Amino acid sequence: MRITTEKLNEITKANDIVDIISQYIPVKKKGKTFVALCPFHPDKNPSLYISQEKQVFFCFGCKIGGNVFKFVQEYEKLSFNEAVFKLAERVGIKINFRKGEIDVSNEFSKLYEINKIAAKYYYNNLLNSKGSEKDFLNEYFKVRKIKKNTIVKFGIGYASRGWNNLSSYFLENTDFTIEDLKLAGLVKVKEKGNFYDTFRGRLIFPIFNEYDKIVGFGARKLFEDDEIEGKYINTQETRIYQKRQILYGLNFAKDSIRANDYVLIVEGYFDLISLSQAGITNVVATSGTALTIDQLKLLSRYTQNIILTFDADLAGIKASKSGIQLILELGMNLNVITLPEGQDPDSYINIYGKEEFENLINKKVSFIDFVTNIYKKENKLNTPEEKAEFIKEIISFIVRIPDKIKRAFYIKEISNKYGLYESDLRDELEQSTKTHRREISIKYSSSDNLSVSSKNTKKGSQIQKIESDLIELFINGSPEAIEYLVYNVELDFIENEIVYNIISKFLDEFINEGNIDIAKISNELDDEIAKQIISEKSIPRYFFSENEETDNHTLIYSVTKKNVDYLKAAKDIIKKFKIDRLRKEIEELKKEGKYEKIRQKQIEIKEIQKSED
Ligand code: CTP
Ligand code: MN
Repeated sequence: MRITTEKLNEITKANDIVDIISQYIPVKKKGKTFVALCPFHPDKNPSLYISQEKQVFFCFGCKIGGNVFKFVQEYEKLSFNEAVFKLAERVGIKINFRKGEIDVSNEFSKLYEINKIAAKYYYNNLLNSKGSEKDFLNEYFKVRKIKKNTIVKFGIGYASRGWNNLSSYFLENTDFTIEDLKLAGLVKVKEKGNFYDTFRGRLIFPIFNEYDKIVGFGARKLFEDDEIEGKYINTQETRIYQKRQILYGLNFAKDSIRANDYVLIVEGYFDLISLSQAGITNVVATSGTALTIDQLKLLSRYTQNIILTFDADLAGIKASKSGIQLILELGMNLNVITLPEGQDPDSYINIYGKEEFENLINKKVSFIDFVTNIYKKENKLNTPEEKAEFIKEIISFIVRIPDKIKRAFYIKEISNKYGLYESDLRDELEQSTKTHRREISIKYSSSDNLSVSSKNTKKGSQIQKIESDLIELFINGSPEAIEYLVYNVELDFIENEIVYNIISKFLDEFINEGNIDIAKISNELDDEIAKQIISEKSIPRYFFSENEETDNHTLIYSVTKKNVDYLKAAKDIIKKFKIDRLRKEIEELKKEGKYEKIRQKQIEIKEIQKSED
């Protein structure tokens, strides 16, 4: 279900961002921009900036930003499509979906299409299995207590044991190539061009994203004599499947999470599926990996309340520490339930049933209580050393909670309950707060580089200052400056992938439309980080200082550059790109000892420096 860019543009034009944001929060005019207290983080001084001209917002405190859809999406905790619908409805624009239309024009839709075909293939393969294979599969589902309509709901499939079943199916029935299947992670290619199916002799779980698109597969071993690969294998990372950003089952669970206002996070595919089959549907699965910030942000659109299942010992906590800290850091509420030893949610619900599981949920305890109880139970609160050790551990969690009142509450409660001095706990909290703040300020200190870049080192290199300046100039520069950039910038100047995509988009837009319309581009880009960068750069540059007292970034003063010579800035930046490139080439030549060439390059640099434009 993809809404066309033309439609999005039409809707954006009819919904002024300042009007829309003003409907939710008080907005004040300040020069050319509008400001507000950011609703997405505790904000004492307005850090949310809105540019009416560019139709984007950006918060200099928590770095959230984007266009009008993004704001409504975040504020109302809606999916992108839901936000679009809402704004369309507001101004009476109708959205018609072109059903069944296959769009393989870009890589993303191509991969979605391949996955859809593969999922259908695996599913039919399960349905149409015959003879002993069929008996075997039926027995498997019987033992695991999985019913027919559960198989249908989750689209569970079967990859048979041959080497090329899926690939042959694709080659015979579609125009997709082995190269396409490789990109989708469905086949592996060996040297000499030999290839084989990734999943063989396995049960297949299609992994859906939030919007019901199949992004990858999880596959469980069915035959014990397949020794080489693990019990589960998953699609490798592809353009549409990034493990860190997906939670299995979220598409099925969304509504139920919202209705119950909590989410239960489990580890395995079967845990989720069995709970859902029993009628507990507000569940997502991490597929056995540590929770990431992206996954938690996804969840926080639907609820702030999380329940995790843990074994009742310290080992389990140690293993999931980073995920737990993230949950607390985001200000979400974390409760814990424990299962009897050796059980997982799947086995538990199949033995004891829904009611018993709900009893467990009713017996949930806050995470802080849970940790404390374990220390108590393991008899580790007796000597002063043990108490000190415990205080350190519990504070390492409490320090992450952003809400002061909650922190104080836990400290009081723990000291009362377990006979510890409140002052000892508070001292440790203070110590720990200092270290923690330092960590945070390192994480967010962006100096002149884009703050988002550090979060995204996986997309290649850090965003260089010059790259970020280039984007800013494209967005804010005068018409002559932009034109100069369009004709002089070379895409191979740019090393960072996201910046590369942004600049190519700008060039495209300028060449086709004669100008660069930020609101429109924002609708056309798929990459959230790219959108964020564009919104950040659309707001004139301000200087910030870290305010240790309030934990907030406070605006101290702003510079409004009145008479900037944008054309000169454009010429300078192109010169600098050229010189940087020559310098890099010189570094390479030095390694090879090619001194004559180096001299030539040095002369070139001098000439560029001397030249007037
Ligand atoms: N997992 C994985 N690779 C493995 C083992 C596990 O990706 N080699 C992931 C799977 O998503 C799995 C989850 O971690 O569902 C939990 O693992 P585990 O508890 O070992 O499996 P179960 O889900 O209990 O699987 P089953 O009940 O089918 O044995
Ligand atoms: Mn299990």
